[in-house]
Amino acid sequence: MLVSAKEMLIKAEKENYAVGQFNINNLEWTKAILLTSKENNSPVILGVSEGAGKYMGGFKTVVGMVKGMIEELDIHVPVAIHLDHGSYEGAQKAMDAGFTSVMFDGSHYDIEENITKTKEIVEIATKRGISVEAEVGSIGGEEDGVVGAGEVADPQECKSISELGVSMLAAGIGNIHGKYPKNWKGLDFDVLSEISDITGDVPLVLHGGTGIPDDMIRKAISLGVAKINVNTECQLTFAEATRKYIEEGKDLEGKGYDPRKLLAPGFEAIKKTVKEKMELFGSIDKA
Ligand code: G3H
Ligand code: ZN
Repeated sequence: MLVSAKEMLIKAEKENYAVGQFNINNLEWTKAILLTSKENNSPVILGVSEGAGKYMGGFKTVVGMVKGMIEELDIHVPVAIHLDHGSYEGAQKAMDAGFTSVMFDGSHYDIEENITKTKEIVEIATKRGISVEAEVGSIGGEEDGVVGAGEVADPQECKSISELGVSMLAAGIGNIHGKYPKNWKGLDFDVLSEISDITGDVPLVLHGGTGIPDDMIRKAISLGVAKINVNTECQLTFAEATRKYIEEGKDLEGKGYDPRKLLAPGFEAIKKTVKEKMELFGSIDKA
């Protein structure tokens, strides 16, 4: 069932687990994630970046595909379609297209402008029952053209944004998009705990979920993180499984070149990765 992310994250925060946001790129990604959620009775958030939305044919195409699968694959767990790192204009387009949740990423604006724009998006979204994620500080690295400096969030700024009626808040705490460098210092738990105290009940979001060690994930959840974003890890496991299939020459055996066969190992690899993350985040059987 298609819902906003608000209720599922309130429940997650109360019960001390996190809901995974898994980014989608095409039909295989979407189907793999939805089926894994169904098989594990887990709520899920489908993340769609503006770039991936365009790639899939536009936001309306994405909404149509997700709605069709929810119906025809009998998906009864809570599912949100969420715009990932949205611009001000992108957030409005996604809402108009039927997204049930949007991130307005105003982290590259100064805090006053971030507050003003976030407030406007919250006003529009709230009237339509759509959840909103805001961002303070920034996530290091690059994701789909969105580049962040990796600036650790100021807890006071987090407080100001959290009071605007946002459903969830992403704060930079040393997390990075993509693969973590070998000399990565780890998450800043002192800042996370300060942010968690100062923002009260607002569920916190951890971006850059790929490659964060399990113990750090568990600690982050214990400090109020209720949504964790994973993108690169599914891409890596998909690519690895697909490469293996081709390197073993399976595309040349019989009708191994049929895309339904060629993409099957990658599809199964995404399912495996998503299940492992759901186990780690504690969202299994929480639908
Ligand atoms: O917004 C999406 C994410 O923060 C995903 O990060 O690609 O490092 O897993 P990741
Ligand atoms: Zn992100």
